[in-house]
Amino acid sequence: MATFSPEPFRIKSIEPIAQSSAADREARLAEAGYNLFNLRAEDVYIDLLTDSGTGAMSANQWAGIMLGDESYAGARSFFHFQDAVRDIMGFEWVAPTHQGRGAENVLFSLMVKSGQVIPNNTHFDTTMGNILARGGNPTNHVIAEAHDPTNAHPFKGNMDVAALEAFIQKTGVENIPLGMTTITNNSGGGQPVSAENIRQTAEVYHRYGIPFFIDACRFAENAYFIKQREAGYQDKAIREIAREIFALADGCLMSAKKDALVNIGGFLALRDEALYRRVAQELTLREGFPTYGGLAGRDLEAMARGLYEGIAESYLAYRINHTRYLADSLVEAGVPVMQPPGGHAVYLDAKQIAGHIPAAQFPAQAVCAALYQQGGIRGVELGSMMFAHQHPETGAWIYPDLELVRLAIPRRVYTQAHLDYVVKIAKQVMDNRAQLRGYRMTYQTKFLRHFTARLAPIEG
Ligand SMILES: Cc1ncc(COP(=O)(O)O)c(C=O)c1O
Repeated sequence: MATFSPEPFRIKSIEPIAQSSAADREARLAEAGYNLFNLRAEDVYIDLLTDSGTGAMSANQWAGIMLGDESYAGARSFFHFQDAVRDIMGFEWVAPTHQGRGAENVLFSLMVKSGQVIPNNTHFDTTMGNILARGGNPTNHVIAEAHDPTNAHPFKGNMDVAALEAFIQKTGVENIPLGMTTITNNSGGGQPVSAENIRQTAEVYHRYGIPFFIDACRFAENAYFIKQREAGYQDKAIREIAREIFALADGCLMSAKKDALVNIGGFLALRDEALYRRVAQELTLREGFPTYGGLAGRDLEAMARGLYEGIAESYLAYRINHTRYLADSLVEAGVPVMQPPGGHAVYLDAKQIAGHIPAAQFPAQAVCAALYQQGGIRGVELGSMMFAHQHPETGAWIYPDLELVRLAIPRRVYTQAHLDYVVKIAKQVMDNRAQLRGYRMTYQTKFLRHFTARLAPIEG
């Protein structure tokens, strides 16, 4: 039976959320063109669209907000933040940015030239987009197990190191300005990467003289999985594991909206002073003076405190168990879920729920719409609406192998009763799945259509 570990915190401040009727939600859904991105957040009861920037800050972080030093240059809050990054990650040079993609933009503008290739286990959309925007080519080399929703591999985010090395040899080191790995692997289901795999990846990159950068948004969740699942790590503190991982890299990019437990913020942390000098100049052009980088002093203060809260073992045990509780409860209720659950989200297998709807009629979107209509729950479609693309020559649609609904879990926001409610509604959708109908698209953009598309139900 699924077990929930009690929260290592209590609630001091609450925010009301509205519970509407199914008829109201049907009307909101129609107004939104059956795309949950087009809803007003106020019309959502349980919002599982993303774990990014949606977490609850602690009393200590809010106190830090009041103490933020808003000086333009050399603010006290910057030094608190810099000390935290140096202490936890061991990088000497720290550049704050407004969020993760700001760090990507700055780093790639300096390092990536047109035609160059940047390998990763799996690039997140924004790293992919920022590399493409520089004329670069992002490539993915995650292990094959990652593509099988039933495979219970403990480190499904691992790089296929042999494939990476073969790729480097084929591409030529002169065409690879940097190499990356993403922990945990968000686009691959929030799956962790083992310390051994990161070590081997670093070894390959460095043997070929390629600088190695970690996309570190969920480094603390990743370190917790290492402690739980990898031999030799059970007695190490999370901070120790994090230090060991970052010691393998030349730098990291981080969206602090995840494991630093803030609503906005990010940074770039580097070992090389010469690169930092170039970053600082680029930062001044694009984000802000190097000691605030597009953030307010209060944001830096909250980030400094959040970085420590994010590596607290009691918090991480609760966090990972919270996600696992949702996944296990869904399985017990007969709802098919991708295995094993990752750190920040649970993925419903919509091919099994709505197998009677063809890919061209967006089965995972049908499940998303039903979760909202029946219970006010907002997840996100990761299926043919997001990933289908047309063959460049024939124009034929190519559909993805997986049709998933991601339920991403904001940090420290929802209680066990909220998760039980999500399970109840998902079970209801599953039990009445024969009634789910497909959709057709009535409006779409050329790129990233899933954000703004409008749909209509297919009748009959
Ligand atoms: C792995 C990964 N990299 C980069 C980003 C981009 O960060 P941000 O949304 O703060 O720009 C995200 C955000 O979800 C992410 O999950």
